[in-house]
Amino acid sequence: MTEPVTSAPCDASESFIAWSDAMSVGNSRFDDQHKVIIECLNRLHPLLDHPDRTAEIHATIEKLEDFVLVHFSEEEQELRRVGFPGFREHQTQHDAMYELVFKMKTDLEHGRAPDARMLFAILNDWLVGHILGSDREYIPYLEHPNAGATRVWQRSNGKPF
Ligand SMILES: [Fe+2]
Ligand SMILES: [Fe+2]
Repeated sequence: MTEPVTSAPCDASESFIAWSDAMSVGNSRFDDQHKVIIECLNRLHPLLDHPDRTAEIHATIEKLEDFVLVHFSEEEQELRRVGFPGFREHQTQHDAMYELVFKMKTDLEHGRAPDARMLFAILNDWLVGHILGSDREYIPYLEHPNAGATRVWQRSNGKPF
């Protein structure tokens, strides 16, 4: 049994990206997790003008890293369960995004100031682009688990699909 998504670990003081129903993937748990990721980005955005607020930047990146790790892992488990055919590619995208967040975190921990604006732009493009793009591709498979396997079975039995 998975834990419920309770409170958002990042509080957004202002919204850079607004959540809309158009971003929904039709799974309330994943939607709630996506909202938290967006809230983290919203929290991070105003801090870009305050590079001296290293502790806050670090705390936000750390929370983002924790949360992204949980979300990616749960999403991958579900995609595997429903037989999503793009699973491997999806997992590769998750790995690349996680590595970027992890790199930002370790750079900060070692006192290396990353190019925050550039990294934020990449992070924003990747995470929001992923939620609005790649994550939407699995929607039909969440609605009809193992639809691909069923189609293969129907084909092999000469039934229409
Ligand atoms: Fe996602
Ligand atoms: Fe994803």
